[in-house]
Amino acid sequence: MKIDFPAPLSRFIVFEGGDGAGTTTQMRRLDETLSRAGIAHWMTCEPTAKPEGLLIRRILSGELPRDPATLAHLFAADRNEHLRGEDGILEHLSREEVVVCDRYVLSSLAYQGSACGPELPALLNSGFPLPELLLYFDLEPAASIERLGDRESLEIFEELPFQERVRSAYRAAIARYSDSAMRIVPIDASRPIDEVARKIAEAVGSALGRSLS
Ligand code: TMP
Repeated sequence: MKIDFPAPLSRFIVFEGGDGAGTTTQMRRLDETLSRAGIAHWMTCEPTAKPEGLLIRRILSGELPRDPATLAHLFAADRNEHLRGEDGILEHLSREEVVVCDRYVLSSLAYQGSACGPELPALLNSGFPLPELLLYFDLEPAASIERLGDRESLEIFEELPFQERVRSAYRAAIARYSDSAMRIVPIDASRPIDEVARKIAEAVGSALGRSLS
């Protein structure tokens, strides 16, 4: 069946991956790389620091138990505000900035898809425009859990059987989007930080039509 995907947004770049895959560290590295190259950019993430995102954080910490479908709606509401709200993604793109977002639609398809089945997150996320470039950080779930081991407290999704489901759901979502105009670059997140940073700079440079190395 042919799927009609929303058109991708130029200069919009998204990092995706299971917990502990290292996207936060690589967001910092890419921020430095783009600054050095003198490229106007905005680094952002989901869940956001807006009220919708802060509510989500309280649910993820286990402080507020909620039905998985409620969480799917909240992630979509947070995303909508992040995209279309004041000082949001569309506003930054309209100022010709490069926008890099740690997690977006595929996180909902992978996580909420694993928590409450694929239909609801697919429906809630079908209208969001895609990024032009998606970097998927792939890491064995056992290795992600080992990396998370240093943290004092874990969030509700940070356990091995769930991370295994999330990885399969990511793979299924990526296969589904392989016919879309969004470019998907897999990143081997088990590699050393500098090597991963170089690979990301190469992919982002190629999307922006300039060398970042
Ligand atoms: P992070 O800030 O460490 O990436 O944690 C965010 C958590 O929220 C992570 O476990 C993934 C999860 N998440 C979802 O379940 N659905 C979503 O749509 C997003 C953006 C994140």
